[in-house]
Parts: sequence; structure tokens; C-alpha cells
Amino acid sequence: MTAVILFGATGDLSRRMLLPSLYGLSVDGLLAGDVRIVGTARSQLDDAGFRQMAADAIAPHIANGLGDQAHADKFLQQLAYVPLDATDKSSYSRLTEAACGSTVCDTAQSISIFLSTAPSLFKPTIEGLAAAGLSGPNVRIGLEKPLGTDLASSAEINDAVAAAFSEKQIFRIDHYLGKETVQNLLAMRFANVLFEPLWRSDAIANVQITVAETVGLEGRVDFYDGAGALRDMVQNHMLQLLALVAMEPPSHFTATAVRDEKVKVLNALRPIDSSTAVTHSVTGQYAAGAVNGQPVKGYLEELGRPSNTETFVALKAHVDNWRWKGVPFYLRTGKRLGARKSEILINFKSVPHSIFGEDVRGMHPNSMLIGLQPEENIRLSLMAKVPGLNRGGIRLREVELDIDQADAFADKRRRIAYEQLLLDLIEGRQTLFVRRDEVEAQWAFIDGIRKGWADNNMQPKPYTAGGWGPSAAIALIERDNASWND
Ligand code: BG6
Repeated sequence: MTAVILFGATGDLSRRMLLPSLYGLSVDGLLAGDVRIVGTARSQLDDAGFRQMAADAIAPHIANGLGDQAHADKFLQQLAYVPLDATDKSSYSRLTEAACGSTVCDTAQSISIFLSTAPSLFKPTIEGLAAAGLSGPNVRIGLEKPLGTDLASSAEINDAVAAAFSEKQIFRIDHYLGKETVQNLLAMRFANVLFEPLWRSDAIANVQITVAETVGLEGRVDFYDGAGALRDMVQNHMLQLLALVAMEPPSHFTATAVRDEKVKVLNALRPIDSSTAVTHSVTGQYAAGAVNGQPVKGYLEELGRPSNTETFVALKAHVDNWRWKGVPFYLRTGKRLGARKSEILINFKSVPHSIFGEDVRGMHPNSMLIGLQPEENIRLSLMAKVPGLNRGGIRLREVELDIDQADAFADKRRRIAYEQLLLDLIEGRQTLFVRRDEVEAQWAFIDGIRKGWADNNMQPKPYTAGGWGPSAAIALIERDNASWND
């Protein structure tokens, strides 16, 4: 292992996630002391300035007990910085020098590049890397979203990357796949015999996926306003969650097997188009309100100009295959909602026949709630008899089997999703990265929805910050006699 090159090294992602993750790997002995970590960005910093920035970024983690100052000091010595104008091809040779210690990288030196950059810079960056000899078989490249704004622009970026790197070298990041709880979804489905026989339309009435945030624009005004919730969250994280819930069992936990199964699901998504956009989707935009007891501004006030960008979206999706025939997948995500919570709810069907009579008190169908964050738990609701004497039939009540991951694994350090992803990038495992055909299937679905919105001139409906989105989102699910888990 030789070098990790971080593009966008002075940015928010780098400070909050990437540098602390590399430090975490280092503390765990998973990043050798001779690995060079080369940061690059436009800012005119020197090595010392970058090390100081990194020191500030990892300080809270040291305070939380991750490693110690002595380890951090050694780690910081591995860091170097190269200021770079991504459009200037001639300057990339300085990266090669910083990474490999010479103007040419030895093919035995392995290099991992992490690109989190504006979409407009992808192409010049790839060309610059190729020109500087940083695209050989010894190089892997991680690509952070946004990878385009629609199918066509994403294909353009993918083509530009493919001109220099083979698919085996390309690691498209969806940081949700790096989350422990998301991987645990696979463990739960495929390491237990209990669920698989029921994991289908025979037993499941509907599936709900919620990714609710309390934050607003968080200083990303221009990016977010050009994207909106559908492209920012549904196109990637939510569709990946849906694919993991819905996919057939892969034969192995390998990149090809897992991604082959996910892409089949994504390709089986029933398009939401001009004829169904109005009935199968809802968009919203937050207005002023209060979140966690604090008053917050509306989206337009935060933005300072008019906008039709949606900060909330709810969908009723279908996976058109045998397993999921007739099972709606309700998806919703939004900013400035009532609580930060990401969860998957599996609502099972009622028992085929109630021996206790149809109107027995307290009888509910089973459900399974998979808490992804901040709660990390699996809660199975089962029916039980209420203790007591029976006259005229027994009484039932829901009880919960609640497995709290944090309790069950109290001795384990909670990691940043990027620790796993960076480790896999460095060591060359692609299972938790998104393949080109997946991204393109995701975009095809999203483009159809956006066209449906445009054709129907759908505008986001206002919702009060701190609530659960526009009332139309409630109607979307209640029309089917179901309800969101709020
Ligand atoms: C990012 C989106 O991909 O995911 C952000 O661009 C969003 O808008 C974030 O806030 C949510 O990630 P997490 O890990 O906090 O759920």
C-alpha cells in the first residue's frame, strides 16, 4: 500500500468523515504507518496547514477516546497537501510525486483516490489523473455523489471515468452501504432462516422506508436547490435500501453476486410516469416552524429566493416481479421533519383465519421495524395473550421483541460509515459500492418521476417544519388503508 489521495480534502466531507475515518483505521492498525495521505483541493495550503486542519478534525474523536494524541501526531505526519487547479492538467504531476515519491508511480505501488468534487470537474480531473500516470491497474478510484443530475449526465460522467479506469477500479460511493445497520439488514435477511419464507407478497402487506432529517439546508444552498430531495436522497440511498430489502438471496456476499441481485430489483421498479405521478408521489417544501422546540425558518427564507425545489418526497413504488406482486413500497424522506430517524418497516398480513373470532380485541398483524439511525434496533411486534381470566374469549395485545444493537454489541466501537468504505477502497472490495448498471437503473426511475412531475406541473406542497411532511403524504398511504409509522 502506498498512498491515498483525497480530492476535495479541505471540504466538509473530508473534515467530518474522511480524515476521522482514516485516523480510525490507523488507530485500529488497518492503515500502515508508511501510507501517504495526500490531500488536494484548490485552497493554497501547505503540509503544515493541512495537518492542522486534520488535527482539528480528529480532535473530537480523540476526546471521545479514539486513540491518543501520540498516535494522532504520528498519523498527522503521514499527511501531505498539494494545491491543485483540477482543470490544469500540468499540475497533476505534483500529485504523482507526493503520492509515489517520484514522477512515475511504480506499478507495485497501490493508490486509492477518493474523488468528492463538483460534477463539472469530474471529466478534467479524470483526464488530469490519466495524464499524470495515476490511472494504471494499481489505482482505484472512489467516486462520491452527486454523479450527475439525470441519466444522461450520469452516463457522461461514467463514460469519462471509464475512459481511464475499468469498472473493477471504480468504487461508486453510497455512504448508506457503509452503515453498520444497513449491512445488518443483509445479515438479518440472509443469516437467519426465520425471515426468508415470509419475505414475499404471501406474507407481507407493505414495506415502508423512511429517512427523516431534522436539518435544513446546512449551508449547501446552491447544491441542494439544484438537486432536491428526490435526487439527493431517493436516487441513491433510498433506492439502495429498497434494493437490499427486495433482492433475491445472492449466492455469495461478493461484489458480483450482490450487485447482480440489486440491479434486478432496480430494473423491476415499475416506472412512475406522467399517468401515475399524481397518485404515486407527493412533494413538499418546508415552511417556517419549530424543530426540537427551536423555531426555524422556512426553505425559501433560508434560500433567499423563490424556488420550486422539493425538500420532501413520498412515493408509492412497486417491484414488478413474482416475489413482490402487489406489495407497495412506500418511501419518504425530507428535511426539517419532526425527528431524525431512518427506518424500514415491514408490515405483515393478518393471519389467514382468526381462531379467536374476527372482532377479537387487540388483534393486529405482525410488523418488523428495522431502525437504521439514530436508533439501531430490530423490533418485531408479536401478538400475545393479556394475562387474566377469560370470559367470552381471550384478550390479545401486541408485545415487542426488541433487539437493540447498541446493547447487544456494547463492547464495539460505533464507526463512521466511511471507515468501512475507505478500508474497502484501499483493499479492493467492491461489494459495498454501486455498479454502473445500478446507478443507471436508479436514474432511469428518477428521471421518469421528474418527467411525471413536469408533465403534471406538480409543485411542492408547503409543510410546517417539525412536522411529517404535507398532508398529501398521509393521504398517499391512507388511501391504501395503511399509515406511516410516526
Ligand atoms: C447525503 C445528502 O447524501 O446524505 C444529505 O446529500 C443528507 O442531504 C445526508 O443530509 C444524510 O446522511 P446521514 O448519514 O446523515 O443519514
